[in-house]
Amino acid sequence: MNILMVGCGQMGGAMLKNWAGLEDMSFTVVDPAALHLPFGVRHETAADALADDMFDMLIVAVKPQMIETVMPAYGPHLIEDGCLVSIAAGYSLQGLEALFPGRAVVRVMPNLPALIGRSATGLFANDAATKEHRALVSHLMEAVGTAVWVPSEDQLDRLTAISGSGPGYVFQFIESFIEAAESLGFSHQDARKLVLQTMVGATEMAMSSDRAVGELRQSVTSKGGTTQAGLEQLRTDGTLDRLMVRTTSAAYGRARALR
Ligand SMILES: NC(=O)c1ccc[n+]([C@@H]2O[C@H](COP(=O)([O-])OP(=O)(O)OC[C@H]3O[C@@H](n4cnc5c(N)ncnc54)[C@H](OP(=O)(O)O)[C@@H]3O)[C@@H](O)[C@H]2O)c1
Repeated sequence: MNILMVGCGQMGGAMLKNWAGLEDMSFTVVDPAALHLPFGVRHETAADALADDMFDMLIVAVKPQMIETVMPAYGPHLIEDGCLVSIAAGYSLQGLEALFPGRAVVRVMPNLPALIGRSATGLFANDAATKEHRALVSHLMEAVGTAVWVPSEDQLDRLTAISGSGPGYVFQFIESFIEAAESLGFSHQDARKLVLQTMVGATEMAMSSDRAVGELRQSVTSKGGTTQAGLEQLRTDGTLDRLMVRTTSAAYGRARALR
């Protein structure tokens, strides 16, 4: 399986790092920069260096605003039943289909923890994509974390508001939590250590448990205890619930406007 990736910056590079060990796959990258690529990845700086080489999959990993000028040169290098995969945020399937008529196209929405192989990724394909194309893209994205297929492009915008933008929400929560720990007298270093380990510990516990998250919350909240005193503030009148609905709705609205 020959895979061509066009653009290999932060996100393309993160994915490639996780793919380097996959069997029966060879990767070629076109990017003008001098890159530190995993061993065995072929690097070219421009499309003409590919000569007549053909690829089974073409991955769009340049910035969305570059797609229309950069990508048309690569269409002829994709085999007839090959698959175009785009990780570009906010660049629609319709736009990709206009550039690559009749081709199988998969839009992939990874998130930043792809950098450490822990992405929560959304996937959506057009009708030309076969079961085999989908299986191949699932295989690649599961090597970078977790992947979920969605039934429509609108659903991909909704997913963008959850997992695409989600790392930002989580970083904000962590930041506020650290500031609160500092206001109770901890040094920044200790506050950061305690908060991050608490976030990781609670998250991993939730991931390894079959119990509902609400049940886990109740299990650590004894009546009249410290957790209950804190949660009474955090949960006052459903403020946090409403805030999360407003947060994700705003991100969804923006994702739709960008497409
Ligand atoms: N970063 C994220 O969290 C994230 C999340 C989801 C989706 N995405 C999507 O991933 C894509 C890439 O984002 P990124 O954050 O990885 O951006 P990036 O770090 O800027 O990567 C883009 C790469 O493309 C290269 N490039 C520029 N012109 C090129 C050309 N003519 N041919 C080939 N390569 C060229 C750039 O090189 P130079 O730097 O030398 O210009 C750079 O290495 C975007 O479409 C973005 O929407 C990113």
